[in-house]
Amino acid sequence: PSILLINGPNLNLLGTREPHIYGTTTLQDVENTCRKISAQHNVTTETFQSNHEGEIVDRIQQARGNKIDFIIINPAAYTHTSVAIRDALAAVSIPFIEVHIANVYARESFRHHSYLSDKAAGCVIGLGTFGYEAAVQSAILQLKRGSN
Ligand code: DQA
Repeated sequence: PSILLINGPNLNLLGTREPHIYGTTTLQDVENTCRKISAQHNVTTETFQSNHEGEIVDRIQQARGNKIDFIIINPAAYTHTSVAIRDALAAVSIPFIEVHIANVYARESFRHHSYLSDKAAGCVIGLGTFGYEAAVQSAILQLKRGSN
């Protein structure tokens, strides 16, 4: 089984970007931890980060051909703007978990709406970068149960 971890715009700067909000763990650390956890369960995790909406859409479309069973996505700012990413996830019909590092509900009101949440298998919000680990664990559980 395979998981695809997608991170959206500015998350390449994780670790140095507004560390009081997003912490000091780097994206490299996050991706390594997710790969390690999934490998322990004989699950592969592929990782992808892009600052470009269309590239994220392309990667989601490829996921079906790549035999991805589960997507974990932090769409970053595109969460609040992107019908295209919502439509791509619906098109491939692969279950996904939405992750946000910070508690979007404790921030500006434009962050309170997500174009993805009502289609997500679940959402992890405000647990810091640990949220990615929680999402991977949950995805593995769902894959093992065959409930996707
Ligand atoms: C974020 C929250 C978004 O509102 C913001 O645009 C981000 C990161 C988070 O992980 O907390 O870039 O998705």
